Amino acid sequence: MQESDVAIIGGGPGGYVAAIRASQLGAKVALVEKDALGGTCLNWGCIPTKVLLRCVELMELADKGKDYGVNLGEVSVDFLKMMAKKEQVVRVLVAGVQGLMRSNGIEVIKGVGSLVSPRQIEVEANSGKRTIQARKIILAPGSVTATLPIPGADGSGVITSDEALQLSAIPRSMVVIGGGTIGVEFSTIFAKLGTRITVVEMLPQIIPTEDRELALALQGVLKREGVEVLTGAKVNRIEDEPGGGESVVISTGVGERKVAAQLVLVAVGRKPNTEGIGLEGAGVKMEAGRILVNKKMETNVPGIYAVGDAIGGIMLAHVASAEGEIAAENACGKSSVVDYRAVPRCIYTMPEIAAVGVTEKEAREEGFDIEVGRFSFAANGKATILGEREGFVKVIADSKSGEVLGIHIFGSHATDLIAEAALSMKMEGTVYDVLSTIHAHPTLSEAIREAALDVKGLAFHIPPRKGVK
Ligand code: NAI
Repeated sequence: MQESDVAIIGGGPGGYVAAIRASQLGAKVALVEKDALGGTCLNWGCIPTKVLLRCVELMELADKGKDYGVNLGEVSVDFLKMMAKKEQVVRVLVAGVQGLMRSNGIEVIKGVGSLVSPRQIEVEANSGKRTIQARKIILAPGSVTATLPIPGADGSGVITSDEALQLSAIPRSMVVIGGGTIGVEFSTIFAKLGTRITVVEMLPQIIPTEDRELALALQGVLKREGVEVLTGAKVNRIEDEPGGGESVVISTGVGERKVAAQLVLVAVGRKPNTEGIGLEGAGVKMEAGRILVNKKMETNVPGIYAVGDAIGGIMLAHVASAEGEIAAENACGKSSVVDYRAVPRCIYTMPEIAAVGVTEKEAREEGFDIEVGRFSFAANGKATILGEREGFVKVIADSKSGEVLGIHIFGSHATDLIAEAALSMKMEGTVYDVLSTIHAHPTLSEAIREAALDVKGLAFHIPPRKGVK
């Protein structure tokens, strides 16, 4: 039997970061992973989709060159090469994680791990079974795609994002069920590649957890790209079309409608991957499939921690990593707690969306007396230089204290710009902190300062609001 200080099940952003942190703290670490290191994010999610988005962005930039006197000729797309580039980027990054495991002295054990007792993990590998004895165990098994409980959901043309990342040709048409993050990101990629897309979202707005103003702005952009967006729409069933392809039968406010397409992409969320890893046997408490933990990432069983998508909550890679760090520190004798106050959320559409803190609706529902500032990228110098004038920044602040409650960005490079907003919220900063900070010129970040100034009616690069002195 092999002995470790810390053993981890799952090598995604939760598990591998936990492994590095535990190793930094001097622990002997074993990491069990059945597939490639990096988990869903690196192999099937965040990274490969962003490579495809980069492909369509390059396509657009090449076209945009004409406006700048840079003529690149006819732009054409080699879809298989795009897919190969995606594979290559994933390979480089997986190799990077493998290298980090090696340089940190972490033993990676390839196989399916399950708890056989609160201190033992059994690993089933091609080469046979082995058991790891550990003083502390961190569970980071991630999540799996949620399925759609309707007739026809197993049709041959019905795919998940995993299969969408393995296509060998650009589909002619696609119905995307679910207007959440996966739904809008894939719609952006394939609409730009010429696929006719219909998005079906059951709630009244797409990206329903985000501020309505941004959701509507994104909906407008998708519409301009030729994407049909149906909100408040319920999918009743999917039918195989006799000549190939699928038909999706949808209830909208005005009756039933059938939309035919070559493929149907189901993107209705993910659920914790907590089956078949021995949780019940070890007495780990769960609720609706997710592992219950406290702020130290401790489960109810002393010595067992859980992080990432498997605990539900905010199912994002960077949150899993933050939780992995906390779990590792506690497993190594420290006393750390996770802080979810300023978690940035990023959606990779064109332009991008990024947000931190509450939406305007949430702020009002939570009883805050708020002030809202906005600034359009059309009034920002750098955005105009880049030819990326679409979008805006929206700052929500407490009207008495000025504390920043939420910052929402719809625009080019929003996902990079959000770091400033996250830091100001983490520091419990106010709009005065943001507006009194000198922002470099010309940068997109000036739009954040201007939106903070606008909270007080003091923005410089938009006409004055009446009555503000
Ligand atoms: P999601 O939870 O973001 O969105 C699912 C959407 O499907 C919701 O808008 C929901 O209202 C809708 N929906 C659910 N059932 C439906 C039905 N029967 N008919 C029509 N609409 C229905 O989940 P998604 O997009 O599948 O993503 C999965 C996970 O991956 C999420 O946790 C997400 O945060 C994460 N992810 C994060 C990304 C990022 O941070 N940029 C990118 C892609 C995924």
